[in-house]
Amino acid sequence: MKSAVLEKILSRVDQIEPGEVQALLSRLVREKGFLQKVFEALREGVLLLDEAGQISFINQAACRFFGTTPEQAQGQHLGKIVRGLEWDHLKGSSRSTVSRDLEVFYPENRYLNFYLSPIAEEEDEADYGYVMLVRDVTNVRAEAAEEIESEKLNALTLLAAGVAHEIGNPLNSLSLHLQLLERKVRHLEKSDQQSLGDHLSTARNEIGRLDTILKQFLQAIRPSAPERKPDNLHEILHESLQALRPELESRDISVALDLVDDIPLLELDRTQIQQALYNLIRNAYQAISPPNGEITIRSSSNEYEVTLSISDNGTGMSPEVMGAIFEPFHTTKAAGNGLGLLIVRRIVREHGGELEVQSEEEVGTTVTLFFPRTDKQVRLLEDQAPIEV
Ligand SMILES: Nc1ncnc2c1ncn2[C@@H]1O[C@H](COP(=O)(O)OP(=O)(O)OP(=O)(O)O)[C@@H](O)[C@H]1O
Ligand SMILES: [Mg+2]
Repeated sequence: MKSAVLEKILSRVDQIEPGEVQALLSRLVREKGFLQKVFEALREGVLLLDEAGQISFINQAACRFFGTTPEQAQGQHLGKIVRGLEWDHLKGSSRSTVSRDLEVFYPENRYLNFYLSPIAEEEDEADYGYVMLVRDVTNVRAEAAEEIESEKLNALTLLAAGVAHEIGNPLNSLSLHLQLLERKVRHLEKSDQQSLGDHLSTARNEIGRLDTILKQFLQAIRPSAPERKPDNLHEILHESLQALRPELESRDISVALDLVDDIPLLELDRTQIQQALYNLIRNAYQAISPPNGEITIRSSSNEYEVTLSISDNGTGMSPEVMGAIFEPFHTTKAAGNGLGLLIVRRIVREHGGELEVQSEEEVGTTVTLFFPRTDKQVRLLEDQAPIEV
């Protein structure tokens, strides 16, 4: 960058007293030092570039974003330090301001938003080069993605209400007519009763299945507020295991428990948590092909949260399946609805918690539920690391 301020002073230097020149110059140096300090203290990246895109200044924050150092970057072309940013393309033909988003992969995957603006304000002003301001918008983007996801769910909720209305009514009427038919069939001859009865019971089963899908779908997405009371998560777990025992025993699956001795009470909706556990334990045993099937359930608790994890030594999931586990109706099972995990996630989130899924193909899967401890109302956050200057 040409020092145009300096040039202006120099052009008028013969009209200025020598003492005044000295004062002006030392002011300039002081101001430069001051600005440099301000730039270094900023969380935003700041780069000064000349007309050709050569970096004349880069602050620490920008160095962190782009994985470089001031020594490496200064005097270099922008495109060399930020691979993929083509200066000529970026600057365009007019001296206008550009704002763009950028994804960087090195030194870590971040989303950045930058703002490139010519320093000169007027067209005819001398060319001072460009200033580039860079902001880290990784978190903002993650929040936006969550928002889109919840909007998608809202749209689904509306759709579900419509579907329930449209399908629920004819289903009821079908069920009534089947009952009437069944009554009439009872007056027929034995042989006719037998064959018609088979058809009727198939139809009844299918109607039942449709009804279950519909109910589960509504349950998956209808935002029903949990009725939470202080409760013991271990107790709910034991009850759920008790209820699932016949299914587990018939598949010869053993369940190992590794639970903390002293689990704090949590604000839980017993029925909903039970349902979440059923879904997770069913998923676990459905992924296991005997023999030697084992499900391990662990719990832990610290000052802020309680975790419960359910691990299986089943098939595990491929990255493709993992990518779609929360999509409604996405299932790899012949008789699955693809709603189980969506329901679990909704329940856990309505308890203020989160869920994490880890899986490796042919090794197994672990689903961990995190519940915030409601007996802790506030939590003092760690001091933020000081900004390196
Ligand atoms: N423990 C697990 N091991 C391997 N794959 C799993 C496991 N849990 C879930 N999955 C995969 O994730 C998919 C979605 O699971 P989800 O529970 O949401 O639906 P589903 O089990 O297919 O149907 P349902 O609605 O009856 O639960 C499953 O089809 C399966 O491919
Ligand atoms: Mg399931």
